[in-house]
Amino acid sequence: MLRRLHPDQPDSFAFTPDNQAWAEGQITKYPEGRQASAIIPLLWRAQEQEGWLSRPAIEHVAAMLGLSYIRALEVATFYFMFQLQPVGAIAHIQVCGTTSCMICGAEDLVAVCKDKIAAEPHALSADGNFSWEEVECLGSCSNAPMAQIGKDYYEDLTAARMGKIIDELAAGKVPVPGPQNGRYAAEPLKGLTSLTEYDSGKTQYNASAQLAVDVGDTVKRIDGTEVPLLMPWQGKAANKNAPKKPVPKKAPQKTTPKQPSSDARPAALSDAARAEGADDLKRISGVGPKLEETLNSLGIWHFDQVAGLTPEDIAWVDERLRFKGRIERDDWVGQARALADENDA
Ligand code: FES
Repeated sequence: MLRRLHPDQPDSFAFTPDNQAWAEGQITKYPEGRQASAIIPLLWRAQEQEGWLSRPAIEHVAAMLGLSYIRALEVATFYFMFQLQPVGAIAHIQVCGTTSCMICGAEDLVAVCKDKIAAEPHALSADGNFSWEEVECLGSCSNAPMAQIGKDYYEDLTAARMGKIIDELAAGKVPVPGPQNGRYAAEPLKGLTSLTEYDSGKTQYNASAQLAVDVGDTVKRIDGTEVPLLMPWQGKAANKNAPKKPVPKKAPQKTTPKQPSSDARPAALSDAARAEGADDLKRISGVGPKLEETLNSLGIWHFDQVAGLTPEDIAWVDERLRFKGRIERDDWVGQARALADENDA
């Protein structure tokens, strides 16, 4: 396939301030004279920000790295992961059309895309919100047929489910990624034949699914403020405006054996925030806007409440969260204690 720049190009490109800081931070990973090695992460970040790579974006990255434009263009046109034409404002859908997926119904998925988005790949839908293309094997063959949408995989698809996913995205929702037929991962459809103690229902935590639910991460355009982008080789965060989330100083504690929890709400939780207003619970690493709402609805409004959770309280809260075990895995209590101390200081 001939990969050319799109005929319609914007006049200019600039990273957002946080993405610019992040990009400059990435360049410092490489020794003097080898800065060009940062080209792929920088082009990728430009695409994450805009959805596609325009000529000004490629030129901007080339200039940052002291490269001639043609060298950056060679990289951008070589790798199919770089989109060289505008993509849908909401989502670009990449349907796998290789053997396993084709045998299992990829052509039906393509037909849905043609019907709902545009007759031709890489063309925008009439409202500009969607685009699609057929891609080679995405390495998820045991969950065929599948499609990549934004950052996430949607697997075990049917034509009907594909259509619904597009409708949900159009309505501003982000469908939960992963298998769409009830599987957790790639375990046998008819049930486990070995390692049966790891029943899929017991494995709840999936970081991609959680981020999709919390912040719509699947199709979000990245502006650099999402999470602190740590540059441990420089001992600081790259993006100055990112929410400050404390990094747990110690490894997550060992999971406490499940405590039987009563139905009664722990005494430390309350119906409303105190008069001074609720704390921003999103500052706890692993808590997004949705999860913050859930915590508020359970009666958690302040860092000191989280810091004071007893094992019994944790069991009570955990039972009411969609993805279990994360309070201890992400050391919420330790993080909240540090944030409460910060509030008191
Ligand atoms: S054939 Fe589709 S993911 Fe491998």
